[in-house]
Amino acid sequence: DPAQALAGASVLLTAGPTREAIDPVRYVGNRSSGKMGYALAAALARAGARVTLISGPVGLPCPAGVDRVPVASAAEMHAAVMARVAECDLFIAAAAVADYRPAAARSAKLKKHAESLTLELVRNPDILAEVAARPDKPFTVGFAAETEAVEAQAREKLERKGLDMIAANHVGGAVGGLEADDNALLVLWPGGRRALVLMPKPALATALVEVIAERYAASTSD
Ligand code: PMT
Repeated sequence: DPAQALAGASVLLTAGPTREAIDPVRYVGNRSSGKMGYALAAALARAGARVTLISGPVGLPCPAGVDRVPVASAAEMHAAVMARVAECDLFIAAAAVADYRPAAARSAKLKKHAESLTLELVRNPDILAEVAARPDKPFTVGFAAETEAVEAQAREKLERKGLDMIAANHVGGAVGGLEADDNALLVLWPGGRRALVLMPKPALATALVEVIAERYAASTSD
């Protein structure tokens, strides 16, 4: 019964942005507000799941019944996820994790002497790909934030990272995506898809949780 599939299930969820330190006062960040991930945490808790929310810095209260672990950088988010992933049934990556961080965070504030400044960035670990590659991997749901060719790029991420499901959204446009109160998602899994139309993030999260519950129930019954 999909409606009951998540009752008692243990869910590890990432949400919000990460901050990659340049020096003690500056960081490289992004515009994720955490609204989508927090709405998802609340909807999962309402579906009876035991939810651990690994959250980047956002200005939102922790949803009722959710256990929150605050982190700042991608490295901290990575460590917090890896410390808990062996115990979860589902992993959902709604965070906008920085793909790159400054090669060396300065210990003192950077001074403005030169007319230009080049910041060297190095790759961060891909938390979602690492979880999906585990031999004991949980049911793994990724997000895809795209500015163009949303379905094709999301399908490519689903397959390349070996995910059970991906929720794709259009970002950088006039409606939906980052910061907005509303969003739309195209949900893809191997052999299927469901379009969830533009609506407030709490309602969208409830609809997404129904799709996750259906696919999770199917995955545990075979
Ligand atoms: O927070 P809001 O303002 O409400 O906005 C919501 C949102 C647009 C941030 C959200 O719906 C969303 O799309 N989250 C994923 C953003 C993202 O980083 O997408 P991506 O296509 O760059 O990454 C693909 C997936 O890999 C994501 O599940 C991401 O969490 C994960 N990832 C990426 C890089 C990395 N180093 N580690 C990861 O786990």
